[in-house]
Amino acid sequence: MLHIILCLTISLLFSSPSKATVQDFCVADLTAPDTPAGYHCKDPKKVTADDFVYSGLAAPGNTTNIISAAVTPAFVSQFAALNGLGLSAARLDLAPGGVIPLHTHPGANEILLVTHGRLTVGFISSANVPYVKSLKKGDIAVFPQGLLHFQLNDHKTHAQSFVFFNSPYPGLQLLDFALFANDLASILVEKTTFLDEATVKKLKGVLGGTN
Ligand SMILES: *[C@@H]1O[C@H](CO)[C@@H](O)[C@H](O)[C@H]1NC(C)=O
Repeated sequence: MLHIILCLTISLLFSSPSKATVQDFCVADLTAPDTPAGYHCKDPKKVTADDFVYSGLAAPGNTTNIISAAVTPAFVSQFAALNGLGLSAARLDLAPGGVIPLHTHPGANEILLVTHGRLTVGFISSANVPYVKSLKKGDIAVFPQGLLHFQLNDHKTHAQSFVFFNSPYPGLQLLDFALFANDLASILVEKTTFLDEATVKKLKGVLGGTN
């Protein structure tokens, strides 16, 4: 009996290595279109160490904009090695006073690491409880999937942080853009938010909404 088990184990261990059942990686072939199951794999024989490194997060993003902040993505379309790994990342730069306004990622949990400066961050649970904290360099914070959250630089120095998502497609919906940056009729925005007409018109003006 023992002999049979040993033989079986050995034959399993050494059987046909060419038919590996575990695929180590599937670096995206970005020349072909994306599919619901991800990109097709680049020929593994053409994959090199360079494929597994991305330097696009080394430089700060341009924070000269309405939110004084920049998000630099490292998603599969920038970093093809992420294909199929269920991960993505981004760099956040916030000038003094900069903010990533209230938003959700419907498809991912997020972890944030502060690497320079300070940030006040928070999320609001589905029970409407706010969880807010001031972070310093080296702190990490987590934002559970789908919950509204924000990052604010309420200090006088530039803030730099990196975020990591447990999905290649975290998705992004900014609350103010959903309300004020489209053509949803102002009267409907007023009725469904309890905001007055002047406020809705003002915010639509700032964010580019119509109607
Ligand atoms: C940053 O963006 C602003 C506004 O679009 C632009 O005027 C400026 O040239 C940009 N700065 C750099 C360094 O690209």
